[in-house]
Amino acid sequence: MSVREEFDDWAASGRDRGMEERHWHTAKHVLARMPVESGETILDLGCGSGYAGRALRDTKDAGRVYGLDGSPEMARNAAGYTDDPAVGFVVGDFDALPFANNSIDHVFSMEAFYYAADPHHTLEEIARILRPGGTFYCAVNYYEENVYSHAWQDNISIEMTRWDRDQYRDAFREAGLYVAEQDNVPDHEITIPSAEAFPTDDWDSREAMVERYREFGTLLTVGVAP
Ligand SMILES: C[S@@+](CC[C@H](N)C(=O)[O-])C[C@H]1O[C@@H](n2cnc3c(N)ncnc32)[C@H](O)[C@@H]1O
Repeated sequence: MSVREEFDDWAASGRDRGMEERHWHTAKHVLARMPVESGETILDLGCGSGYAGRALRDTKDAGRVYGLDGSPEMARNAAGYTDDPAVGFVVGDFDALPFANNSIDHVFSMEAFYYAADPHHTLEEIARILRPGGTFYCAVNYYEENVYSHAWQDNISIEMTRWDRDQYRDAFREAGLYVAEQDNVPDHEITIPSAEAFPTDDWDSREAMVERYREFGTLLTVGVAP
Protein backbone atom coordinates (compact mmCIF):
# COMPACT_ATOMS: atom_id res chain seq x y z
CA MET A 1 0.00 0.00 0.00
CA SER A 2 1.28 3.49 -0.79
CA VAL A 3 1.52 6.43 1.63
CA ARG A 4 -1.41 7.91 -0.22
CA GLU A 5 -3.64 4.84 0.11
CA GLU A 6 -2.72 4.16 3.74
CA PHE A 7 -3.16 7.71 5.02
CA ASP A 8 -6.11 8.64 2.81
CA ASP A 9 -7.93 5.87 4.67
CA TRP A 10 -6.83 7.30 8.02
CA ALA A 11 -8.04 10.78 7.02
CA ALA A 12 -11.37 9.48 5.77
CA SER A 13 -12.02 7.71 9.08
CA GLY A 14 -11.13 10.77 11.22
CA ARG A 15 -7.81 9.51 12.47
CA ASP A 16 -6.20 12.84 11.55
CA ARG A 17 -7.99 14.54 14.46
CA GLY A 18 -7.31 11.56 16.72
CA MET A 19 -3.58 11.85 16.04
CA GLU A 20 -3.71 15.57 16.65
CA GLU A 21 -5.26 15.02 20.07
CA ARG A 22 -2.67 12.43 21.14
CA HIS A 23 0.39 14.04 19.58
CA TRP A 24 -0.47 17.46 20.97
CA HIS A 25 0.56 16.27 24.46
CA THR A 26 4.22 16.47 23.46
CA ALA A 27 4.10 18.33 20.13
CA LYS A 28 3.03 21.55 21.87
CA HIS A 29 6.21 21.52 23.96
CA VAL A 30 8.32 20.96 20.85
CA LEU A 31 6.54 23.81 19.02
CA ALA A 32 7.04 26.10 22.01
CA ARG A 33 10.79 25.48 21.86
CA MET A 34 11.11 26.40 18.18
CA PRO A 35 12.96 29.70 17.68
CA VAL A 36 10.36 31.06 15.26
CA GLU A 37 10.37 34.81 14.80
CA SER A 38 7.54 36.97 13.55
CA GLY A 39 7.08 36.67 9.80
CA GLU A 40 9.19 33.54 9.30
CA THR A 41 8.31 30.72 6.92
CA ILE A 42 7.64 27.25 8.33
CA LEU A 43 7.25 23.81 6.77
CA ASP A 44 5.39 21.03 8.63
CA LEU A 45 6.52 17.72 7.12
CA GLY A 46 3.76 15.10 7.21
CA CYS A 47 1.31 17.62 8.59
CA GLY A 48 -1.74 15.38 9.09
CA SER A 49 -4.53 17.66 10.37
CA GLY A 50 -2.21 20.68 10.15
CA TYR A 51 -2.41 21.58 13.86
CA ALA A 52 1.29 22.53 14.10
CA GLY A 53 1.10 25.25 11.47
CA ARG A 54 -2.06 26.68 12.98
CA ALA A 55 -0.38 26.77 16.40
CA LEU A 56 2.77 28.47 15.09
CA ARG A 57 0.65 31.15 13.44
CA ASP A 58 -1.29 31.74 16.65
CA THR A 59 1.55 31.61 19.15
CA LYS A 60 4.63 32.83 17.26
CA ASP A 61 3.21 34.99 14.50
CA ALA A 62 4.80 32.80 11.82
CA GLY A 63 4.48 34.60 8.49
CA ARG A 64 3.79 31.73 6.15
CA VAL A 65 3.16 28.10 6.98
CA TYR A 66 3.18 25.17 4.58
CA GLY A 67 1.89 21.75 5.56
CA LEU A 68 3.19 19.02 3.28
CA ASP A 69 1.58 15.61 3.22
CA GLY A 70 1.65 12.62 0.86
CA SER A 71 -2.04 11.98 1.43
CA PRO A 72 -4.38 14.23 -0.57
CA GLU A 73 -7.19 13.48 1.90
CA MET A 74 -5.06 14.57 4.87
CA ALA A 75 -4.19 17.81 3.04
CA ARG A 76 -7.84 18.35 2.10
CA ASN A 77 -9.01 17.85 5.69
CA ALA A 78 -6.24 20.11 7.00
CA ALA A 79 -7.24 22.88 4.58
CA GLY A 80 -10.79 22.57 5.90
CA TYR A 81 -9.70 23.21 9.50
CA THR A 82 -8.47 26.76 8.83
CA ASP A 83 -9.43 29.81 6.80
CA ASP A 84 -6.09 31.53 7.45
CA PRO A 85 -4.72 32.60 4.02
CA ALA A 86 -1.15 32.38 5.38
CA VAL A 87 -1.50 28.62 5.91
CA GLY A 88 -1.24 26.45 2.81
CA PHE A 89 -1.19 22.72 2.19
CA VAL A 90 0.84 20.88 -0.42
CA VAL A 91 0.54 17.27 -1.53
CA GLY A 92 4.07 15.96 -1.96
CA ASP A 93 6.59 13.36 -0.87
CA PHE A 94 9.45 13.58 1.62
CA ASP A 95 11.69 12.39 -1.18
CA ALA A 96 11.51 15.61 -3.23
CA LEU A 97 10.49 18.71 -1.30
CA PRO A 98 8.89 21.24 -3.66
CA PHE A 99 10.71 24.26 -2.22
CA ALA A 100 13.65 26.33 -3.44
CA ASN A 101 17.10 26.22 -1.80
CA ASN A 102 17.36 28.37 1.36
CA SER A 103 13.65 29.23 1.22
CA ILE A 104 12.39 27.91 4.59
CA ASP A 105 13.26 29.26 8.05
CA HIS A 106 12.20 26.26 10.14
CA VAL A 107 10.94 22.72 9.55
CA PHE A 108 8.82 20.82 12.05
CA SER A 109 7.82 17.18 11.82
CA MET A 110 5.87 15.07 14.33
CA GLU A 111 5.49 11.32 13.99
CA ALA A 112 6.12 11.38 10.26
CA PHE A 113 9.84 11.47 9.43
CA TYR A 114 10.36 7.71 9.84
CA TYR A 115 7.94 6.99 6.99
CA ALA A 116 10.41 8.50 4.50
CA ALA A 117 11.42 5.89 1.91
CA ASP A 118 14.99 7.21 2.07
CA PRO A 119 15.37 9.18 5.32
CA HIS A 120 18.99 10.16 4.56
CA HIS A 121 17.88 11.75 1.31
CA THR A 122 14.97 13.49 3.09
CA LEU A 123 17.47 15.03 5.52
CA GLU A 124 19.52 16.27 2.57
CA GLU A 125 16.36 17.80 1.14
CA ILE A 126 15.65 19.52 4.46
CA ALA A 127 19.22 20.83 4.63
CA ARG A 128 18.84 22.11 1.05
CA ILE A 129 15.64 24.11 1.64
CA LEU A 130 16.62 25.56 5.04
CA ARG A 131 18.26 28.98 5.08
CA PRO A 132 21.56 29.25 6.97
CA GLY A 133 20.72 29.07 10.69
CA GLY A 134 17.32 27.53 9.97
CA THR A 135 16.24 24.62 12.16
CA PHE A 136 14.67 21.17 11.84
CA TYR A 137 12.65 20.03 14.87
CA CYS A 138 12.19 16.32 14.33
CA ALA A 139 9.87 14.60 16.83
CA VAL A 140 9.23 10.85 16.83
CA ASN A 141 7.58 8.36 19.15
CA TYR A 142 8.73 5.37 17.06
CA TYR A 143 12.43 4.87 17.76
CA GLU A 144 14.77 2.14 18.93
CA GLU A 145 14.99 2.95 22.65
CA ASN A 146 11.18 3.09 22.89
CA VAL A 147 10.69 -0.67 22.94
CA TYR A 148 6.94 -0.15 23.35
CA SER A 149 6.78 1.29 19.83
CA HIS A 150 8.46 -1.62 18.07
CA ALA A 151 5.26 -3.52 17.30
CA TRP A 152 3.72 -0.55 15.46
CA GLN A 153 5.31 -1.68 12.19
CA ASP A 154 3.09 -4.80 12.27
CA ASN A 155 -0.01 -2.63 11.86
CA ILE A 156 1.03 -0.54 8.89
CA SER A 157 1.98 -1.46 5.34
CA ILE A 158 4.57 1.30 4.88
CA GLU A 159 8.13 0.48 5.88
CA MET A 160 9.18 2.50 8.93
CA THR A 161 12.76 3.42 9.83
CA ARG A 162 13.58 2.69 13.47
CA TRP A 163 16.73 4.61 14.36
CA ASP A 164 18.16 5.04 17.83
CA ARG A 165 19.23 8.37 19.31
CA ASP A 166 22.78 8.09 17.94
CA GLN A 167 21.57 7.17 14.48
CA TYR A 168 19.40 10.28 14.38
CA ARG A 169 22.33 12.48 15.34
CA ASP A 170 24.72 10.76 12.90
CA ALA A 171 22.23 11.01 10.04
CA PHE A 172 21.60 14.71 10.70
CA ARG A 173 25.35 15.38 10.60
CA GLU A 174 25.85 13.30 7.45
CA ALA A 175 23.20 15.45 5.75
CA GLY A 176 25.08 18.61 6.72
CA LEU A 177 23.00 19.69 9.73
CA TYR A 178 24.54 20.54 13.10
CA VAL A 179 22.83 18.79 16.01
CA ALA A 180 21.83 21.50 18.46
CA GLU A 181 19.83 19.38 20.87
CA GLN A 182 18.42 15.93 21.50
CA ASP A 183 15.91 15.26 24.23
CA ASN A 184 13.03 13.13 25.42
CA VAL A 185 9.84 15.16 25.78
CA PRO A 186 7.63 13.35 28.33
CA ASP A 187 3.89 13.02 27.97
CA HIS A 188 2.46 14.20 31.30
CA GLU A 189 -1.11 14.27 30.08
CA ILE A 190 -1.97 10.70 29.27
CA THR A 191 -3.92 9.20 32.15
CA ILE A 192 -2.08 6.37 33.84
CA PRO A 193 -4.42 4.32 36.03
CA SER A 194 -3.47 3.21 39.54
CA ALA A 195 -1.55 -0.04 39.98
CA GLU A 196 -4.57 -2.24 40.67
CA ALA A 197 -5.95 -1.56 37.16
CA PHE A 198 -3.06 -3.50 35.60
CA PRO A 199 -2.69 -5.55 33.51
CA THR A 200 -4.90 -3.71 31.02
CA ASP A 201 -5.64 -4.66 27.42
CA ASP A 202 -2.60 -2.67 26.31
CA TRP A 203 -0.22 -2.67 29.26
CA ASP A 204 1.24 -5.47 31.38
CA SER A 205 2.24 -3.20 34.24
CA ARG A 206 1.94 0.37 35.46
CA GLU A 207 5.74 0.65 35.42
CA ALA A 208 5.81 -0.07 31.69
CA MET A 209 3.19 2.58 30.96
CA VAL A 210 5.03 5.13 33.11
CA GLU A 211 8.28 4.38 31.28
CA ARG A 212 6.62 4.66 27.87
CA TYR A 213 4.91 7.99 28.48
CA ARG A 214 6.61 9.79 31.33
CA GLU A 215 10.20 8.79 30.50
CA PHE A 216 10.51 7.90 26.82
CA GLY A 217 7.76 10.22 25.55
CA THR A 218 8.74 11.80 22.25
CA LEU A 219 12.32 11.79 20.99
CA LEU A 220 13.25 15.25 19.72
CA THR A 221 16.32 15.85 17.58
CA VAL A 222 17.06 19.42 16.53
CA GLY A 223 19.20 20.16 13.49
CA VAL A 224 20.56 23.53 12.43
CA ALA A 225 21.57 24.40 8.87
CA PRO A 226 25.08 25.89 8.58
C1 LIG B 1 1.34 9.53 11.83
S1 LIG B 1 0.84 10.85 10.80
C2 LIG B 1 1.30 12.29 11.77
C3 LIG B 1 0.55 13.51 11.35
C4 LIG B 1 0.84 14.77 12.19
N1 LIG B 1 2.19 15.23 12.01
C5 LIG B 1 0.53 14.56 13.64
O1 LIG B 1 1.38 14.79 14.50
O2 LIG B 1 -0.62 14.17 13.96
C6 LIG B 1 2.06 10.83 9.50
C7 LIG B 1 1.72 11.74 8.33
O3 LIG B 1 2.84 11.75 7.43
C8 LIG B 1 2.38 11.59 6.11
N2 LIG B 1 3.45 10.90 5.35
C9 LIG B 1 3.95 9.68 5.60
N3 LIG B 1 4.91 9.37 4.72
C10 LIG B 1 5.02 10.43 3.89
C11 LIG B 1 5.85 10.72 2.77
N4 LIG B 1 6.76 9.84 2.34
N5 LIG B 1 5.70 11.91 2.14
C12 LIG B 1 4.76 12.80 2.58
N6 LIG B 1 3.94 12.58 3.64
C13 LIG B 1 4.07 11.41 4.29
C14 LIG B 1 1.10 10.80 6.22
O4 LIG B 1 0.25 10.97 5.11
C15 LIG B 1 0.52 11.27 7.55
O5 LIG B 1 -0.40 12.33 7.38
